Amino acid sequence: MFLNTHFPGARKYWHMGTFYDWSEATFHPMSHALHYGTCTFEGIRAYDTARGPAVFRLPEHIDRFLHSASVIKMTSPYSKGEILESVRLVMRENGLKSAYIRPLLFYSYGNLGLVPKACPVELLIGAWEWGAYLGEKAAEGVSALIVPHRRVHHSQLDMRAKLGGIYVQSTISGLEARAQGYDEAIFLNLEGRVAEGPGENIFVVKGGSVKTNGIEESVLEGITRTSLLQIAADRGFRTEIEPITKEELFGADEAFFTGTAVEITSIVRVADGSNPKSGKMERSIGDGKPGKVFLELKAAFKDIVTGKVPKYEKWLTYVR
Ligand SMILES: Cc1ncc(COP(=O)(O)O)c(C=O)c1O
Repeated sequence: MFLNTHFPGARKYWHMGTFYDWSEATFHPMSHALHYGTCTFEGIRAYDTARGPAVFRLPEHIDRFLHSASVIKMTSPYSKGEILESVRLVMRENGLKSAYIRPLLFYSYGNLGLVPKACPVELLIGAWEWGAYLGEKAAEGVSALIVPHRRVHHSQLDMRAKLGGIYVQSTISGLEARAQGYDEAIFLNLEGRVAEGPGENIFVVKGGSVKTNGIEESVLEGITRTSLLQIAADRGFRTEIEPITKEELFGADEAFFTGTAVEITSIVRVADGSNPKSGKMERSIGDGKPGKVFLELKAAFKDIVTGKVPKYEKWLTYVR
């Protein structure tokens, strides 16, 4: 029996066209993905709007999902249109007003050699109410630890893909940061510059200019990141996609994480633990509080995702 204690509002999940009770399991312990992380996933949010629940940038998430599937050489058993409709169906079936939505494509049960030659590719989708990813206190800003392990490099794997196995590195670093008393981790890339968080992109603000790094810095091309760049530019901020050095992060007026789970969360303190032999240097970012630019962008983002700004309604897929 699987309880939904950490999945509030989850009643049923969808697996290959059928709904199952949340408490029921439908696949075998020898499924390939469970052993090798041979799966790909998306993290999507739906928000409560005046016209009912709406999914934020759903077609873009599905495009990325299918790109990730192609990287791990999967043929999706469902088309883009079918996945889109299934996501809407999952929202309706669970009666959710707002949700975090998790589609997963995985190599299922067949053989356990590293090459999944006898394993079918299966799709499942779950959804539940997921509040602030880094906890309610994150509204006051979070602390982050630059961890010693460098982010997987884009020359090693296509970092535009959200492959299950890559997230082992995210989990280890997230645990390490929390073990040392920080809210979240930050990775440097192999070049020694700032890459991203375990599940977040990073922005810095300096002199009113809003900057994030590009995919050649070994980061996921986040959909929240792309949206925020557009929102900032539309509000008259200068925006840049350029590498971010550690010095720039420490010297920034403001810094924040973006991502579907974390939405937009201010980073107010950073510790450099990238070289465990030399001890940790720790500093506040700006004045150690969520900054003005962050607060403006966060408010704008909230209005947009909840359907209050007609210009950006094109980013919403209504569930009903
Ligand atoms: C490693 C990583 N970077 C960045 C992001 C932010 O991406 P998005 O805004 O598309 O959720 C995510 C979350 O999906 C992620 O897992």
